[in-house]
Amino acid sequence: MRSAPGPMAPSQDLFAPKDSIRRTAHIQSLEEYQRLYRQSIEQPEEFWAEQAKALTWFHPPHTILDADPNQVDFSWFNGGRLNASFNCVDRHAKTRPGKPAIIWAKNEPGEYEVITFRDLQHHVGRVANVLKAHGVRKGDRVCIYLPMVPELAYTMLACARLGAVHSVVFAGFSAESLRERILDSGAKVLVTANEGPRGPKRIPTKAIADEAVEGLSQLEAVLVVRRTATEVNMQPGRDFWLDAEMARHRGTCPAEWMDSEDPLFILYASGSTGKPKGVLHTTGGYLVYAATTHRYVFDAQPDDVHFCTADMGWITGHTYLLYGPLLNGTTTVLFESIPTYPDAGRLWRVVDDLKATILYTAPTALRALIREGDTWVLKSSRQSLRLLATAGEPINPEVWRWFHDVVGEGRCPVVDTWWQTETGGVLITPLPGVTPCKPGSATLPFFGVEPLLVDDEGRVIQGNGVSGNLCLARTWPGQARTLYGHHQRFVETYYSRFPRLYFTGDGCRRDEDGYYWITGRVDDVLNVSGHRLGTAEVESALVAHEAVAEAAVVGFPHDIKGTGVCAFVTVKPEWQEASTEQMVGALKEQVRHAIGPIATPDRIVIVSGLPKTRSGKILRRMLRKIASGELDNLGDTTTLADPSVLDELLARQQPVARPRS
Ligand code: PRX
Repeated sequence: MRSAPGPMAPSQDLFAPKDSIRRTAHIQSLEEYQRLYRQSIEQPEEFWAEQAKALTWFHPPHTILDADPNQVDFSWFNGGRLNASFNCVDRHAKTRPGKPAIIWAKNEPGEYEVITFRDLQHHVGRVANVLKAHGVRKGDRVCIYLPMVPELAYTMLACARLGAVHSVVFAGFSAESLRERILDSGAKVLVTANEGPRGPKRIPTKAIADEAVEGLSQLEAVLVVRRTATEVNMQPGRDFWLDAEMARHRGTCPAEWMDSEDPLFILYASGSTGKPKGVLHTTGGYLVYAATTHRYVFDAQPDDVHFCTADMGWITGHTYLLYGPLLNGTTTVLFESIPTYPDAGRLWRVVDDLKATILYTAPTALRALIREGDTWVLKSSRQSLRLLATAGEPINPEVWRWFHDVVGEGRCPVVDTWWQTETGGVLITPLPGVTPCKPGSATLPFFGVEPLLVDDEGRVIQGNGVSGNLCLARTWPGQARTLYGHHQRFVETYYSRFPRLYFTGDGCRRDEDGYYWITGRVDDVLNVSGHRLGTAEVESALVAHEAVAEAAVVGFPHDIKGTGVCAFVTVKPEWQEASTEQMVGALKEQVRHAIGPIATPDRIVIVSGLPKTRSGKILRRMLRKIASGELDNLGDTTTLADPSVLDELLARQQPVARPRS
C-alpha cells in the first residue's frame, strides 16, 4: 500500500482550534483525527463499514468495496439495499416528527416557512405519487428546473423515493443549456415553476422551459410549481400545475428498495470540452459519504440549524443543503434570495432570525459583502453561529480573516472545504475545533482520502514543500461512478492524464507541514464566482454568432468573482465596419442567451487576429497574461506566426488588464 502523506504537527501562522466549539462525540483532538485517518487508509473497508451503520439499510451490504481500477469501475456497499428518501425523511418523521426539517427563507426578508419532518414526508409522498401518475418509474430521469422553493426538495426526494434519477438544472441557465441537459439525460418529466423571485428579479422559468422543450417528444409531462400569481402559458395535455396534482394524490408512497449502485442523480458540470458532463452519483456510497462528511466536517449536532447559501443547482446544494443535513436529521435552511437583497445585511438577518448555528458559503459572496463595509455585519447579533465554512474556490487569506474575525468574532472555526461535483462530498478540509488552520489552506485530507501531487510527466512528488497536479490515489464512497451514458469519456477525462489516478484538474501545493493549498485549475476550466465554466463552452457560444470568425476565452484575476471571463474575438470581414460597442453588447447577450448570465464575459476584445503558432494553435498562455496585465513575461513570442497580432493586442491591453488589487 502506498503510504499516505501523513499530516504533521503544523508550525506557523496557525489559528489554533477554538475551545468554544462544543466538544462532542465526533472528533476531539488532532491525535484522534490522525489515528482515524490512518485507520481509514490502512483498513478502508472496516472504516467505511462502520460509517455505513449511520444509515438505515433495508438489507445490509455484503461487500464494502469492489474495485476494478483497470476498467475505472468502483462499487461500494454491494448487496446493500436502501432508499435515500427513506433515510432523509421517514426515519426522522418517525422519531422526531415535529422537528423542522427545512426552513424556507423566502425572497422577501422576514418571510419564512417551516416544514417539519412529518410535513416533509407528506409532501414528498404526494409528489412521488404525482410523478408515478405521470409514468415515472425506477430508473427514469426527471429534470428539475426550479428556483429555491420547497417543491425543489420535495421533487428530488420524491424521485429518490421512486428510484427515479433527478437531474437538477440551475435556474440561471438558459433555454439552450436546459434543452441540452434534458436531451442528454433523456428526461421523461420536467418540473419547473411559473417564475422564480431572486433578489430584485423574477426569473421567467416557465417561459425559458417552454423554449427549451419546444418540439421535444421525449417529455411526457411538464409539472409547474405556482410560486407567484403570475399567469403563464400552459399547454393542455403537457403542462400541469403541481399544486393541483398534489391535491389529487395521497401523502403516502412506499420507498423503492434500491441497490447501492443504482443511480441517485445526474448533475451537469462544465469541463474542458464544449459539452457539459452528466456527472452520475449512485445511492449507497454517495449517501454514506454525504452523511459522514456532514457529521465530521460540520461537527453536526442535534440542535443545529444548518444554513448553506448554495443554490440546489450545484453539488454543494445537493450534498450540504439537502442530503447531508437531512440524513443526519439536521434542520436545513433553503434560501430563495441572494446575500445582497435587499441589502448587504441579508445573510446576517437570516442567521439571527433562524438562529443559524452553521453558515456555509462561497468566498465570492464574502468578497462582495466585504466591499459593503463591516456595519452590515456589526448591526447583527450572530451569537447563534458556532461554525463558518466556505467552498467552491480558493479563499484569499484576508477574506478568511474577515470571516473569522468580523463575522465570527474570533469565536467560530472557519472550515475551508475543497471538493468537486465529481467527488460528491468534501475531500480536503479542516475538522472544526481540531485542525489548526492556516488562512487560505484547505489543510488536510478527510478520512479515506489520499491526495497525491504529480508532476507533468506523471511522477508522484514525495515529501512536503512541493507543488504539482492534484490527484487522488484511491476511490472513496462519494466518488462519481461515470458520466451518464459516456463511460469512456469519464475514463478519458479523469483517468487518462495520469493512468490509474483520478486527476482533479487542480494545481496544488503541499507546504512544509503537509497542508494542502489549492492553486486553481490547470485545465481550460474557469472558476467564476465559485462556478465552473469551460472556456470552450463560452467560445462555442461566441462563434455561434453570425459575426464571429474566431474566439478565444481566458480567465483573469477579478476582485469579486475570483476569476473574470475575457474573450478575444475576431469578426468576419463583412462585419468589420460594425460599431465595437454594439458588437460587444450583442456578443455578451449571445453568451447570456446560450449559457446563462453567469457566463457573460466581463471583457470582450475585438481584434483583427489571434496570436497563433505557425501550426495554427492559439497561444492561450499569452492571452491569459495579456488579460491579466502581466506583460513583463509573455513567453516565447518568436513562435508567433504573425508578430503584428501581438503589437495590436499590447496596444489594446489597457482596457483589458485588471490586476487584482
Ligand atoms: O478548482 C476547484 C474549486 O472548484 C472546483 C470544483 O467545482 P465544482 O465541481 O463546481 O464543485 C464545487 C464544490 C465545492 C475544484 O476543482 N474549488 C472547490 N473548493 C475549493 C476550490 N478551490 C480552492 N479551495 C476550495 N476550498
